[in-house]
Amino acid sequence: MKDLSPIARHYTQGNLLHTIRSAVAQLGKEPEFVTIDDLAPVDEFHIGGRTATRDFLSQLAPKVDDHLLDIGCGIGGASRYAALTYNCRVSGIDLTEEFVATGRELCRWTGLSDRITLTQGSALALDFAAGTFDKAYMLHVGMNIADKAALAIEVARVLKPGALFGIYDVMRMSDEPLAYPVPWASTEAHSFPGTPEDYRAALQAAGFEIVAMRNRRDFAINFFEGLREKAVQADTPIGLPLTMGATAQTKIRNMIENLTRGCIAPVELIARKP
Ligand SMILES: C[S@@+](CC[C@H](N)C(=O)[O-])C[C@H]1O[C@@H](n2cnc3c(N)ncnc32)[C@H](O)[C@@H]1O
Repeated sequence: MKDLSPIARHYTQGNLLHTIRSAVAQLGKEPEFVTIDDLAPVDEFHIGGRTATRDFLSQLAPKVDDHLLDIGCGIGGASRYAALTYNCRVSGIDLTEEFVATGRELCRWTGLSDRITLTQGSALALDFAAGTFDKAYMLHVGMNIADKAALAIEVARVLKPGALFGIYDVMRMSDEPLAYPVPWASTEAHSFPGTPEDYRAALQAAGFEIVAMRNRRDFAINFFEGLREKAVQADTPIGLPLTMGATAQTKIRNMIENLTRGCIAPVELIARKP
């Protein structure tokens, strides 16, 4: 793994597809018969899982045949949900090659490869022409990106005039030190959660208008309580610990602690390019 950037190294498992294939087999399914609902517990790598994706993407109101950009798409859970629910096209990019390769295979299993293209790349240097996309979104990615001003400028470049950009990120709510590791970083060296004001300022400097903002702290606390109850009731083979690796339980515990101490909160921000 020595050629990977530190962030890609943090996310790379080495055998993720094999692990998901084994979990799917434990569900009693062949890969080709898997649905996006079967995969949701493992491929929605953000607080609130599929529920959060549904609530968030509905605010972008994707239309049939819209071309969406999923920035930091991970293994493509939100891309598949968007393509299937809204019958639109999605291009996903992600820094972590293993996530992209795994995501492509999951698109093949679910019969969505014709509507979704996943590519390895950086959010700060998007390999798309200006004005390509009808909408763009990112879920839980900005915590890995220090330069939010550069990110906003790059996203603005690839959007059409009037297009929406939706962000659902873990944001900083106080200056208190965070407990590490967390799902997006092992230490603070590659952890850059910004405040809502940091995001607003970066977006506005890139020319975006802020359309809506919503703090999802209470939703997140309910979500983690629900997860705890489910874990007590049933030992399911498929879930986010597969994507987060050996320290998954510590990362989740620290995130809950950071959240309940009021240091972080998941926040949605919707912006429009004039
Ligand atoms: C917590 S995961 C979220 C994945 C996906 N958005 C989801 O919600 O399931 C964060 C993702 O952001 C990606 N990422 C981090 N920094 C990035 C960057 N500068 N450009 C592209 N992807 C990045 C990581 O590789 C990882 O897949």
